[in-house]
Amino acid sequence: MTLENRQILVTSALPYANGSIHLGHMLEHIQTDIWVRFQKLRGNQCIYVCADDAHGTPIMLKAQELGISPEQMIDDTRIEHMADFSDFLIEYDNYHSTHSDENRELSELIYNRLNDAGHIKTRTISQLYDPEKQMFLPDRFVKGSCPKCGSEDQNGDNCDNCGETYSPTDLVNPRSVVSGATPILKDSEHYFFDLPAFSDMLSEWTKSDSLQSEMSNKLAEWFEQGLQQWDISRDAPYFGFQIPGTENKFFYVWLDAPIGYMGSLKNLCDKSEGLNFDDFWAKDSKAEVYHFIGKDIIYFHSLFWPAMLEGAGFRKPTSVYAHGYVTVNGAKMSKSRGTFIKARTYLDHLQPEYLRYYYAAKLNSRIDDLDLNLEDFTQRVNSDLVGKVVNIASRTAGFITKRFDGQLSSELSNPQLLAEFVSAQATVAKYYEEREFSKAIREIMALADKANQYIAELAPWQLVKDPEQQQLAHQVCSLSLNLFKVLMTYLKPILPQLAKQVEEFMLVELRWDNLEQTLLSHQINPFKALIQRIDPKLVAAMVEDSKQEVEAGQAKAEPKAAKPKKASANKVSDDTIAAEINFDDFAKVDMRVARIVKAEHVAEADKLLKLQLDIGGETRQVFAGIKSAYSPEQLEGKLTVMVANLAPRKMRFGMSEGMVLAAGPGGEELWILSPDEGAQPGMRIM
Ligand code: MSP
Ligand code: ZN
Repeated sequence: MTLENRQILVTSALPYANGSIHLGHMLEHIQTDIWVRFQKLRGNQCIYVCADDAHGTPIMLKAQELGISPEQMIDDTRIEHMADFSDFLIEYDNYHSTHSDENRELSELIYNRLNDAGHIKTRTISQLYDPEKQMFLPDRFVKGSCPKCGSEDQNGDNCDNCGETYSPTDLVNPRSVVSGATPILKDSEHYFFDLPAFSDMLSEWTKSDSLQSEMSNKLAEWFEQGLQQWDISRDAPYFGFQIPGTENKFFYVWLDAPIGYMGSLKNLCDKSEGLNFDDFWAKDSKAEVYHFIGKDIIYFHSLFWPAMLEGAGFRKPTSVYAHGYVTVNGAKMSKSRGTFIKARTYLDHLQPEYLRYYYAAKLNSRIDDLDLNLEDFTQRVNSDLVGKVVNIASRTAGFITKRFDGQLSSELSNPQLLAEFVSAQATVAKYYEEREFSKAIREIMALADKANQYIAELAPWQLVKDPEQQQLAHQVCSLSLNLFKVLMTYLKPILPQLAKQVEEFMLVELRWDNLEQTLLSHQINPFKALIQRIDPKLVAAMVEDSKQEVEAGQAKAEPKAAKPKKASANKVSDDTIAAEINFDDFAKVDMRVARIVKAEHVAEADKLLKLQLDIGGETRQVFAGIKSAYSPEQLEGKLTVMVANLAPRKMRFGMSEGMVLAAGPGGEELWILSPDEGAQPGMRIM
């Protein structure tokens, strides 16, 4: 059954190809990806394209600085960006570049049509020019003293000190950031797009219902100030596309950037059967087109872009959806505080779905900024995902496997409860559609609470002990897993990887059009740990790494010993949880806090370190296989946890009198346990 049958094209803004993706960019791509996955889950045709934005002066200069060609640099960056996005589970249908044949052709086509229709004007303007570097200087490449307050080292467009805005030619003692030379004024002919000619059309378009109200207000303000001609040309040297019919004029990067949305789609259509460019962009297209962008680039997307499209005979976007900026711990992302966090640095420590969930839990359809509070992030993910959602399955699935041959019951203990969960689908879908993800999550978590409450009341772990209550226990656990299936279907756009694991565990495809199907007498696989709690130490290590990246001047080389060791990602364990034990079994293991008083290499043993452990007045010698992950110096003085009543073992090098507890797959990825500050050697762990 197809629920809906819409044809939709969706884009995220094209990241510049001269820097790494950070958690600010990620907000946009996660927001877009969730919306796209939701549309696909509902049976719509939804195409999601993006690209790197590869042109402009900063990119040209950065490549020069690195001593490589701009082509080389943008290729390298694009590969890096694609890996970052893919590891955050962003699923584009195509990720292209604005420096492509498709984009060149489309940019020329659009320009020529605008020119033919009389929408391009030329005019000579005077601009600051670097006589040494022989190039015109964009505003941000000129610095000088503020013409109003005299404050030194101010940018070309506004003063940080007094807030005055001005043009770079007003600066006192201006200098070129590129060469340090004093810029001169130089005349040059520029090409302008006649934006005011589109005033009527734009004022109509910007009243469209589908625009966010904050955006409409902003646009109304801009209209009041009056629309200006837009300078779309730049002089050589410039990295971009040459303007047809000119010698040394190039399109300003912002002219061909949004056309890059079309270029990426064109590239996709050319390699895909049955996908037709005109279906999306022809004047009479019936498809929907949405651009997801940040609040800083509204002007380009809601004025220039629709006007260019109109003037060149294409359809306009259905809507433009802007989001706010990510702040971290209540402030602008800061390199010195370690809160300017790159996507890759995050991924080195944490699972992508944690951030996808947290952003979703805070996103709405408005242009508000979104705060990534790292403590709240840890707490929220742990309590919602681990403590509420996955808990439903982890408390009940084991019984199905152990007591009921892995098969769900033929009837449920409380079918009404399941019906209630299923009937939430309309509300959840409405919230997703409206980009009110936080509301969708609130709805879903309220249901999760209900499920847990029900399980706690019926206490299947008690029921299974009573021979009379076996059937009820079976039905309660089976109901719980059916509730879990519904919730995970609702969460699938946000948590695609977790959803996939659940599909493998429950042997069912989580589909929206499958919500009403109850799983009865259905075989499932044994439950495996689906997700781990976030360890706050990993978050701290991520912040520390971000600081160090800045100190190292973004250099790739990482000093090994000085850095806290990091997990390559705390992969959801493939280990099944061991067979159940009772408290007496557990109490047999005597674990103690121990201080590592001495650690040394063992000649002839390439995996072992010899440790002397103080467990409160008694010293134990333990051989631990942790040499691949720790040096003796890193360990001496540290507190750890040891099993103190393990039978001693005679080894080639001496007696081992216990065991140190550690986690991880091995090699460099091993972490010994340590108690929180304050614990004393010898204390028993219970
Ligand atoms: N290349 C242009 C976009 C061209 S679209 C035809 C650009 N690139 S960017 O790399 O600077 O930004 C890409 C997107 O990331 C923009 O939508 C921008 O708003 C968004 N963000 C950049 N920093 C951000 C935050 N700190 N928080 C949220 N979004 C942020 O602009
Ligand atoms: Zn000033």
